[in-house]
Amino acid sequence: MHETPHAETVPSGKVYCRATTLALAMNTVVAVTGASGIIYGLRLLENLPGNKTVIVSDDAAMIAKAELGIGKRDIYAEADSHYENDEMYAPIASGSVKFDSMAIVPCSTSTMSKIACGIADNLTTRVASVALKERRRLVMVIRETPLSSIHLDNMHKLSVAGATVMPACPAFYPSPRSIDDMVNFMVGRIMDELGVENDLYRRWSGPRKPVTGSRGSRRTRR
Ligand SMILES: Cc1cc2nc3c(=O)[nH]c(=O)nc-3n(C[C@H](O)[C@H](O)[C@H](O)COP(=O)(O)O)c2cc1C
Repeated sequence: MHETPHAETVPSGKVYCRATTLALAMNTVVAVTGASGIIYGLRLLENLPGNKTVIVSDDAAMIAKAELGIGKRDIYAEADSHYENDEMYAPIASGSVKFDSMAIVPCSTSTMSKIACGIADNLTTRVASVALKERRRLVMVIRETPLSSIHLDNMHKLSVAGATVMPACPAFYPSPRSIDDMVNFMVGRIMDELGVENDLYRRWSGPRKPVTGSRGSRRTRR
């Protein structure tokens, strides 16, 4: 295990509500794989409470450089510890070592399809396989379009096996004004699925009231 020097610590003496305390005690493995949308994985790490272990595949590192101009080390800096994807002897590769959840964000269709078929040829696919066999929470954020019937079959298999399959698909009902808003929506939904309270996005609270008076737009006055 490679420790990150400035890992998050729980400030002593602070009183947390039960949900926050539970979240701070959570052990999560985050794997970042070679799909577009590395920002989702990075933003998740920035916001996730508790102990975070990260694995970054080589292809993810290459895409991180292209999309964000950052390297593996910048992603590792947001976690408490990290492993290389070929460190098959890492403790988390064994079902005997407890973690609460695994999130693969973004998840390439290659990694997704391997996991669906029971292939465990690197640390990410092995830990996912452990999560499924041990009935732990596994959230997979797939980023690909369009999807072939092979992808869809594999996603169905994973859903039946207990994984949460979440295509990276931000919604427009919170009226996003920036890419950041859209990223936060997706990351907030991932945190919802991991059971972590968050207010990263505006939840649906019914249609907005139309603007009244002479200054209302034509659309709202109709
Ligand atoms: C620029 C670039 C973008 C990519 N985006 C995606 C993507 O969005 N989804 C996907 O499934 N694969 C994508 N790929 C292909 C994967 O990176 C490739 O299948 C790789 O082997 C995945 O390996 P990994 O899952 O071990 O990281 C992309 C590749 C490149 C070079």
